[in-house]
Amino acid sequence: MLSGALISTLGIYSHQRGLRYPRLSFEHSAVPASVLSSEQLELDLRDSIAVNSHTIRAIAPEPCIFIKRLGRSASVKVLNVASNAVLELDGIASAEIDEEVDGTARIVHITEVNQGSTLKWSLPVTDGFEFAVMGDTGGGSELAWTLKRAHELGAQFLLHLGDFNYSEGEYEMAIEHFNNAKLPCYVTIGNHDFHTDGLIYDKFISQIGPMNHAFELAGTRFINVDTAVDFWPAGSGHRGALFNSLTNAGPFIGEQVIFTHRPLKDPKPDDDHEIGGIGEVDWLVRQSHKLGIATVLSGHVHHSAELDYQGLRQITIGEGLGYEDLVLQKPVAKILMASVEPHKKLTHRWVDLNMPWSEHQNATHLIKLKSDRLHRQLEWFAQLQKT
Ligand SMILES: [Fe+2]
Repeated sequence: MLSGALISTLGIYSHQRGLRYPRLSFEHSAVPASVLSSEQLELDLRDSIAVNSHTIRAIAPEPCIFIKRLGRSASVKVLNVASNAVLELDGIASAEIDEEVDGTARIVHITEVNQGSTLKWSLPVTDGFEFAVMGDTGGGSELAWTLKRAHELGAQFLLHLGDFNYSEGEYEMAIEHFNNAKLPCYVTIGNHDFHTDGLIYDKFISQIGPMNHAFELAGTRFINVDTAVDFWPAGSGHRGALFNSLTNAGPFIGEQVIFTHRPLKDPKPDDDHEIGGIGEVDWLVRQSHKLGIATVLSGHVHHSAELDYQGLRQITIGEGLGYEDLVLQKPVAKILMASVEPHKKLTHRWVDLNMPWSEHQNATHLIKLKSDRLHRQLEWFAQLQKT
C-alpha cells in the first residue's frame, strides 16, 4: 500500500518536473536568479548571467544591469557584447562610469552610483541587421573559423545551434572561442553538449546560459528552445515554462524565430535524426502555431536543407564541421545569413563557409571519414564480386 502511494507520488512529481532521456534524469532544478554578488557589489541581471563574482556573460544583444549595492568602487567585466552596442545609463552620471572595450568584452569601472541605477547596452539596428547561423561545429578550429567567417560576413551575431563538444576538452575550448569571438554568439544546447558518459550540461548553464530563453531585437523575437534530448511529458520542465510565459505575455507583432538543436523532421529521406520524444514534435508544432512562430532553425543533421513542416519553415544548418568538403574534396559547406528588416518577413541566403583545409581538424569526423571511405570501398568490392 505504502509502495503504491510512493510510486503514485513519484509519478506526479516526475510529471510536473519533467524527465529527460536518454540517460534518464529529472529536468534540472531551477537556475538561481541572475544575480552577481560580491563584497563590493550586488547586481540584478537581465538577459545576462553571472559567470563568476566579477564576470557577466550577455545572453541577448541588449543586456541590462541593475545596481542594488555598491561599495566605494567596483569593476565588472561583461562578455559577449557587440562592438556597436552603446552603453546607456540611468541614475548614474557618466563621470562615475568608465567603460573599456576589449573585443566583445566591456570592462566597466563604477565609482559611485545611486541605488537602483541601471546600465543597459543598446544596439542601433532599427533599420535591420543580418545574423549568421551554424550548428555542429565541435569546439575546435572549425568553431573558430565559423565565428571568424560570420564576423567577416558582417553578422550582428551568430546563433549557434549546438554540438560544440564531440570529445574531451572541446567544452572548454568552445567556451574560450565563444568568449574571444569578434561578435556575440547565442547558443542552444546540443545532445553532445548535454551528456556523454554522464550529464555534462552544468558547464553550459554556468558558463554559456540557460537552455531555454527568448530575446527581442529590432521587432524580431528569437526563442532558444532546448531539444538536446527528449522530454517527458513534452510540455514539462523549463521549456514548457518558457512557452507558457511567452503565451501569457500576449500576442507578439513581428517575426518570431526558434533556434534549437534537433529538427522537427529530418530533411534526409529515410533518416530519423529528429526530435523523438512521445508527442514532442506535435507539442512543439502546436506551441509554435499558438505563438505565431514562422521559422525553426535547427542543426544536428550535418547538412543544409529547407523544408515546410506542418506550416513551419524549417531550415537546417549543420555543416559546421565541413564534413562534405572532405568527402567531395572541394569546399561545399554553407553557413546561413538571415536578414531582419523593419516590417518585412525574415529572409535568408546561403553563403560559402570557405573553411580552409588546415581548419578541418576535428578527430570525430576524420574517424568517420576513414570509416565511410572504408565502407564505400567494401561496397565497391562487393559490387565487383557480383559482376
Ligand atoms: Fe546533435
